Amino acid sequence: MNKNIFITRKIPEVGLKMLEEKGYSVTVRDSDMPPTQEELNFALREKEYDAVVTLLTDKIDSAIFEANPNIKLYANYAIGFDNIDIVEAKNRGIYVTNTPGAYANCVAEHAIALMLALTTRLVEGDQYVRDGKYKCWSPDIFIGTDLSGKTLGLIGAGRIGEKVAWRLMHGFDMKIIYHDIVRNQTLDSEDRADYKTTIEEVLKEADIVTLHTPLLPETIHLINEERLKMMKPTAYLINTSRGPVIDENALLKALKEGWIKGAGLDVMEFEPNPVSGLTDLDNVIITPHIASARESARNEMATVLAENIIDYFEGKEPRNNVAK
Ligand code: GLV
Repeated sequence: MNKNIFITRKIPEVGLKMLEEKGYSVTVRDSDMPPTQEELNFALREKEYDAVVTLLTDKIDSAIFEANPNIKLYANYAIGFDNIDIVEAKNRGIYVTNTPGAYANCVAEHAIALMLALTTRLVEGDQYVRDGKYKCWSPDIFIGTDLSGKTLGLIGAGRIGEKVAWRLMHGFDMKIIYHDIVRNQTLDSEDRADYKTTIEEVLKEADIVTLHTPLLPETIHLINEERLKMMKPTAYLINTSRGPVIDENALLKALKEGWIKGAGLDVMEFEPNPVSGLTDLDNVIITPHIASARESARNEMATVLAENIIDYFEGKEPRNNVAK
């Protein structure tokens, strides 16, 4: 039987090809911007779709599920799935899949790139040269901070957090402290990694704190004013997870008033806009949610996504169902 799939925005060819080779009919919405709720609602009513491919910019809630109750699979093109109301999906017996994979490496590398850019003052130095301000080498301009020998504090030690820790422990001689609700056995087997039973212990001891938690009701504003005040004034905060994990107004205050030394963000609380005043500061680096923006990663995501859809249409439990 023919299957119809609606895709809210273009995804890499490799995934589309896998679906088309199975004989499924694929409708890709033609736009570089996410659909509005009204547009998506309308599109899903238009045709008898059997599955929908969503991006992390699509908000999928009960009104969207209601638009076409026959659709029982929403395949999200992302590791994170906080854009989808999972509780509602479960109640309705809808499968939701994500795209975890080896590309967690590139997210880990981006977190480390943000750390290095901050501690070497790379962006500030580049701007200085571009502005024509570099007149003569001097021993005291742009003094940075070493990573070697410092303590990395990991909040969230899943696939990505572990890769960040491993690279910094073995490549940069850093000590690791971590907190998660689940212990990480790989880190536990390392001499230089210690588990902490509370987030607070990590915040107080770490020279660099990096966040690798999913966005859940309990992780919204996990890093708030009180917790920012616990960090060392010499510490840096890195976020490649989801923006709302940090109270960004509190972070603005922390950076302005020197509660911490700097921050590197790939995600924002109110994406795509940083809170007003944040981009005026030199001690923050912000990238536009590009930690997984590599051709290899994007293709892997499209492949994993297609595998999930094929599983479902072939009567199997989709391998990355997160609505269980
Ligand atoms: C990107 O943020 C993802 O969740 O894959």
